[in-house]
Amino acid sequence: MRIVCIGGGPAGLYFALLMKKFHPEHSISVVERNRPYDTFGWGVVFSDATMISMRAWDPESAAEIEEAFNHWDDIELLFKGTRQRTSGHGFVGIGRKKLLNILQRRCEALGVELVFETDSDGDTDYPDVDLIIASDGFNSKIRNRYPEVFEPDLVVRPNRYIWLGTKKLFDAFTFDFRKTDHGWFQAHIYKFDENTSTFIVETTEEAYEKHGLGTLDQQGSIDFCQNLFSEVLEGAELMTNARHLRGSAWLNFNRLICDKWSHFNGNSHVVLMGDAAHTAHFAIGSGTKLAIDDAIELTNQFNKLGHSKDSIPAVLSTYEEIRRVDVARIQNAARNAMEWFEVVGQRYADTLEPPQFMYSMLTRSQRISHENLRLRDPVWLEAYERWFAEKNGIEISGNGRVLPPMFTPYSLRGTDLPNRIVMSPMAMYSAKDGMMDDFHLVHLGSRALGGAGLVFAEMTCVSPDARITPGCLGLWNDEQAAQWKRFVTFVHDNSAAKVGIQLGHAGRKGATKLAWDGIDQPLTEGGWPLISASALPYLKNSQVPKAMDRADMDRVKADHVRAAKYAADAGADWLELHCAHGYLLSSFLSPLTNRRDDDYGGSHENRARYPLEVFSAIREVWPQDKPISVRLSCHDWFEGGNTPDDAAIFARMFKEAGADLIDCSSGQVWKEEKPVYGRLFQTPFSDKIRNEIGIPTIAVGAISEADQANSIIAAGRADLCAVARPHLADPAWVLHEAAKIGLTSIVWPKQYQSGKMQYETGLARAAAAK
Ligand SMILES: Cc1cc2nc3c(=O)[nH]c(=O)nc-3n(C[C@H](O)[C@H](O)[C@H](O)COP(=O)(O)OP(=O)(O)OC[C@H]3O[C@@H](n4cnc5c(N)ncnc54)[C@H](O)[C@@H]3O)c2cc1C
Ligand SMILES: Cc1cc2nc3c(=O)[nH]c(=O)nc-3n(C[C@H](O)[C@H](O)[C@H](O)COP(=O)(O)O)c2cc1C
Repeated sequence: MRIVCIGGGPAGLYFALLMKKFHPEHSISVVERNRPYDTFGWGVVFSDATMISMRAWDPESAAEIEEAFNHWDDIELLFKGTRQRTSGHGFVGIGRKKLLNILQRRCEALGVELVFETDSDGDTDYPDVDLIIASDGFNSKIRNRYPEVFEPDLVVRPNRYIWLGTKKLFDAFTFDFRKTDHGWFQAHIYKFDENTSTFIVETTEEAYEKHGLGTLDQQGSIDFCQNLFSEVLEGAELMTNARHLRGSAWLNFNRLICDKWSHFNGNSHVVLMGDAAHTAHFAIGSGTKLAIDDAIELTNQFNKLGHSKDSIPAVLSTYEEIRRVDVARIQNAARNAMEWFEVVGQRYADTLEPPQFMYSMLTRSQRISHENLRLRDPVWLEAYERWFAEKNGIEISGNGRVLPPMFTPYSLRGTDLPNRIVMSPMAMYSAKDGMMDDFHLVHLGSRALGGAGLVFAEMTCVSPDARITPGCLGLWNDEQAAQWKRFVTFVHDNSAAKVGIQLGHAGRKGATKLAWDGIDQPLTEGGWPLISASALPYLKNSQVPKAMDRADMDRVKADHVRAAKYAADAGADWLELHCAHGYLLSSFLSPLTNRRDDDYGGSHENRARYPLEVFSAIREVWPQDKPISVRLSCHDWFEGGNTPDDAAIFARMFKEAGADLIDCSSGQVWKEEKPVYGRLFQTPFSDKIRNEIGIPTIAVGAISEADQANSIIAAGRADLCAVARPHLADPAWVLHEAAKIGLTSIVWPKQYQSGKMQYETGLARAAAAK
């Protein structure tokens, strides 16, 4: 085969050398516009995993690369006058020039033709070759020639960065955050050879504009950064090697992914590789790794499917299929890390104390968890757990194990929760006439015995016509209140748990069948008239609700007040107002379901008017020493619907009205929603609201292990974690999770003591056997 790689970056060079190595009979050229020693950038970082596969594929170049590596374990943070350091993070850095020179030499030794100083016009320059590798980087001419084929999806990120270097040598991956009159700047710094460190400075567009950085030439920007980071530079100078860039050299990161990676141009097969196909933000330093992994996978597919022209279409399609999965995983992690740096100024830097800021930064990609940090640096993590526990009022004595964050108590108004785990409200569809019965006592009671700090009963409806189904719980009469009292007394007498009641009204999603008879499907008999913000049915075959008038609003508000009074009389500890999931109050908040043109529709203020009115009314009758949380759908997952930015606006309004906490859920507002599920998928909403609005939050959604809950709470992404489905699978989820992380100091109900020891011993044995 004749193969030409257009672009001699890591992707093109590594692919050329691997292919030549395995099949020397191929004719392979790499065409590069620069001279051999001419390249942009300073150093790149690799993980140990990338090196393992490079060693396996080409031990010769891997050995040279490893020889040139600078290895370091520590991460250091300079923030608000503090200097914090943790170890065990394992990075290697190498100069980009050095890396390319090693690959160039290896290519030459194997017989790859290297053509420098040739700016190719793209694939059409080589009509007689079989395969063209578009390894021409992010600005790929080849990709840009066929936009309708490759369908690039490009997002320009809001932050500005400048890639500089310095002769000062840093012995840790160093982050330095500096506040200016116009916002925060951060430097990402790492040493990559015996003389030089990379020094990337990043800030928001707003700070960049207000400091006039766009009007400065490169030297002007260097002077600015040198002055701002003078403390960490200790007199060392910053340098640029991007003099070829015109203007200020401050760039925006572009996130790229292509819909298709290969194309037959009539003469040759063309395939995208490395930055031409996808990018990953430097916050997790994986761009070069992805380029190398692409090269390895394409070679791997030729080795598997055959090194002949006929195999090319199959090879290219399997290459794309396999690489897409890994690229998506890395881009996801890179996105979390990138977004952390984009919002750090507005969200964390002014609110979190230095130790928690450090924890939040270390876990920014959400790939590194609490137990992961313990493995990397147990001393640092234990010191952090100690700091967190002391902050939360726990007296530390001796050297015993400190309570991990999710097991620390939490107090709001006069309510003290024994830990941070909430059993999330879950409809059981098992009530008759809204009455709680023995099923609910056993179901909820066993979750209280199972260790949850706060046990929420399901959405509890404020009137018969507020129910979702005929099986929903209610709280509108004395008989129901008596049953609630029996349940609350049971929990208080037999556990340390507190009881929460979530008050709600189904609105347009009411009068439906029990979930197992057809979720959201309208009742065929025994239904009742529905009300909502606007007269829009939920499903095509749902009943059309009446748009509420003022009399309806007064009645429903009074129903909420009556239920809140009953809840207080029953001795419940916590009230939640359900303003999520498309039910009545949620239907006012979302522009998808609220089409009103009166004072209750349109602007945020208008849409929130009625939910706030109901909130204020229940706040008035609910005991002052007990909290009220508000559950919001923080994302409608549908165009034109609410987004996390809208949720933050509503959260602020509820905070000002006296809400104690926002329970950050999402969706179920609009049937055609397109949610993006995944582990902890709603935690970013909680993080945003807690740290931008300054109100405590509950994170909920796909939190299934203690490790995740500990990470969320330790990082300040939420104050509490609600766990729903795992509690259906395991009533003693909290006790079992404690045992799984080796925390034996958690108290089990006295009746269950002998089970505790056996359970813990069983886990210890299983761990030892592994
Ligand atoms: C600020 C910053 C920091 C980064 N830090 C890291 C890091 O720490 N770790 C990491 O792994 N990655 C990092 N990256 C990303 C990394 O540089 C790229 O992801 C990686 O180089 C991609 O390799 P590539 O071979 O696909 O493309 P490139 O390295 O971009 O190579 C493309 C080559 O093609 C050549 N070329 C382009 N057009 C033509 C043409 N028409 N004719 C001939 N030649 C052409 C170019 O001159 C270039 O040499 C960083 C990027 C930035 C911007
Ligand atoms: C069977 C079931 C019933 C639910 N009922 C309610 C409810 O009454 N009120 C509510 O706000 N959320 C309800 N939810 C949503 C949960 O409280 C929770 O937000 C969701 O299940 C995500 O958490 P998880 O991933 O831990 O299950 C329900 C969820 C399930 C699985």
